[in-house]
Amino acid sequence: MHSFQPFKLTDIDLNPFVKFNKEWALVSAGGKSKYNTMTVSWGGLGVFWNKQVAMIFIRESRYTKELLDSGDLFSIAFLDEEYRDALKLCGEKSGRDVDKFAEAGLTPAFRHNIPYPDEANLVLLCNKLIAVPFTEDLLPKKAMEKFYQNHDMHTMYLAEIIESAAR
Ligand SMILES: Cc1cc2nc3c(=O)[nH]c(=O)nc-3n(C[C@H](O)[C@H](O)[C@H](O)COP(=O)(O)O)c2cc1C
Repeated sequence: MHSFQPFKLTDIDLNPFVKFNKEWALVSAGGKSKYNTMTVSWGGLGVFWNKQVAMIFIRESRYTKELLDSGDLFSIAFLDEEYRDALKLCGEKSGRDVDKFAEAGLTPAFRHNIPYPDEANLVLLCNKLIAVPFTEDLLPKKAMEKFYQNHDMHTMYLAEIIESAAR
């Protein structure tokens, strides 16, 4: 990304289904002293409380969740196809065990002390509005059986997009 060029999300065409589910994204949290990134393919973009918002769904077991829960700010970044292997690595290994930025060949960059990969072609800087843990009593039984056999539940993070930058 090299220089962070803010732009208005209303100025670009963007298909969130393609962005999340086909391209995948990196969710990065923490700050300069301690940060981590993980791959997500479930998420969304929309409008809430008249704000432009993003949502992500993070399972309890993820190290990134600890960092998301200990601060308000995080980033969602999209990368070109040439970084698919980096995204696979960040979706398999845990930041508890390795420095994923280094292992994946990604360069940590920071804006407002929010980490993001400098290689990204689109970065959304997010400020948490609400974190909603999904609990068994709220979920349809079928979903529970299909997605939560091991009870590794998702928390939904709904966040205002406070700044976006694109290359
Ligand atoms: C393509 C892909 C999509 C993923 N999407 C999600 C997701 O939306 N939510 C989630 O909790 N985990 C998701 N994961 C799994 C995490 O990225 C993975 O568990 C990761 O190692 C967690 O890293 P961490 O422990 O450093 O936070 C995905 C993995 C891949 C490969």
